[in-house]
Amino acid sequence: MALLAIPITIIFFILVAYKLYQKLRFKLPPGPRPLPIVGNLYQVKPVKFRCFNELAKTYGPIFSIYYGSQMNVIVSTTELAKEVLKENDQHLADRFRTRSSHSMSRGGMDLIWADYGPHYVKVRKLCNLELFSPKRLEAIRPMREDEYTALVENIYKDCTKPELKGKSLLLREYLSAVAFNNITRLAFGKRFTDSEGVVNEQGQKFKKITLDGNKINAKPSIAEYIPWTRCIFKVEQEALDKLAADRDRLTRVIMEEHTKSGNTKQHFVDALLTLQKQYDISEDTIIGLLWDMIAAGMDTATISTEWAMAELVRNPRVQQKAQEELDRVVGPDRIMTEADFPKLPYLQCIVKESLRLHPPTPMMLPHKASANVKIGGYDIPKGSIVHVNVWAIARDPACWKNPEEFRPERFLEDDIDMKGTDYRLLPFGAGRRICPGAQLAINLVTSMIGHLLHQFTWLPPPGLKPEEIDLSENPGTVTYMTNPVEAVVTPRLSADHLYKRVASDM
Ligand code: HEM
Repeated sequence: MALLAIPITIIFFILVAYKLYQKLRFKLPPGPRPLPIVGNLYQVKPVKFRCFNELAKTYGPIFSIYYGSQMNVIVSTTELAKEVLKENDQHLADRFRTRSSHSMSRGGMDLIWADYGPHYVKVRKLCNLELFSPKRLEAIRPMREDEYTALVENIYKDCTKPELKGKSLLLREYLSAVAFNNITRLAFGKRFTDSEGVVNEQGQKFKKITLDGNKINAKPSIAEYIPWTRCIFKVEQEALDKLAADRDRLTRVIMEEHTKSGNTKQHFVDALLTLQKQYDISEDTIIGLLWDMIAAGMDTATISTEWAMAELVRNPRVQQKAQEELDRVVGPDRIMTEADFPKLPYLQCIVKESLRLHPPTPMMLPHKASANVKIGGYDIPKGSIVHVNVWAIARDPACWKNPEEFRPERFLEDDIDMKGTDYRLLPFGAGRRICPGAQLAINLVTSMIGHLLHQFTWLPPPGLKPEEIDLSENPGTVTYMTNPVEAVVTPRLSADHLYKRVASDM
């Protein structure tokens, strides 16, 4: 026992001395006093963006909080967000990787988990120029539109069943299916679901991989932040290795199918295989990129649409106003398409207002400092993790009138951009690491909301008043509603054929 006490005491003194050195050398942001070993971990409540917003009221718009010995800096104003994402962008563009993200991304060989450097610049260029270019997004539009019509058909089938008349439907199930089909088709060029909604064997494998990944990631471990406890809290390395192997096997089979067919289409897998030599990227990077799209694109689109629909059930005035606009522009004899967007300004404002109040990634993804920088007059030492609380900024009364109110008209009065040029509204982040899928995401979410509003009326479940719809948030990097929204759904258009899926063989 005495033998063990000596190294522990030495480590303790080294840590204390290091902290003291940092305090004297740097002017660090204020924050709650960290305890030895755990830091402030015991003070961080599960819904982090709300907890950090409360802490900002005590410690100010920039404060520090320790996860174990790891310093985290949280900024909560538009001015500080600009300092992080514009003025010091280059030195704050690395990523903090947990053991599982490190392992799954092979040390950042993908895009999401890559540190900022030559690999990142190359892969990001490929994504911006090749995968998310306006030309490619337009080329895969028929595929997206196929999936919107499938969404509408599925809801129509259920809400017109006599036994479900007057009963409420759970919207999330339908949205998850459309996001699954859209993103897997985009990435892998395959629809894993048949016309009856049955997911095939490859699709089942795919779902199991994402489910297993979520399970592993849902187990936050103190050892991520206290390196010397890693020998006690071992990462489930075996489970991770198996997950990575399953993922790679499935992806390789799909890649081979594409290579053999020789029939190059517009999907990401085809694009990446075609561009592999030109951009000099490894097979690990191709696999990493394909799964980045799944990780970043699938849940976020579902979540954003679900939050918006919850607000529209809560606010019948806004729902009706949007439907009037859709009736005026699209009319009763056809369905909406993406080409209608420019003539649907109110619908676009609804998307912005919903992403303002309910950004699906309220703290963005964490950035890491690759050099010492100054933010808000404080020193941020190299290695610190920096978070921007975009949720708090989008509700800051200093920037927004009646910030808690869902009022899309505010964007008709003031045309605020949400793609990283206006630091009041940052659902996609800004700067070098801004979401590369922002335009695709906006198209997906605007279309889903547009179709749902044009083709159906949405009322609260029987016995519930609109204002009683629960808007509480689940913890997690991406924020789902705690209670999925339910609504009584009634078709608005009279012609049956407008509710049929229009399949595209892309
Ligand atoms: C409403 C939907 C979406 C929202 C709100 C959203 C938001 C974000 C945010 C906040 C980030 C982190 C930015 C940062 O670290 O500074 C991000 C990164 C990313 N997003 Fe999205 N996203 C959405 C949809 C999508 C879609 C549909 C795709 C692709 C299919 C996608 C692909 C990515 C990728 C690859 C990254 C990593 C970029 C990097 O690290 O350089 N996202 N997204």
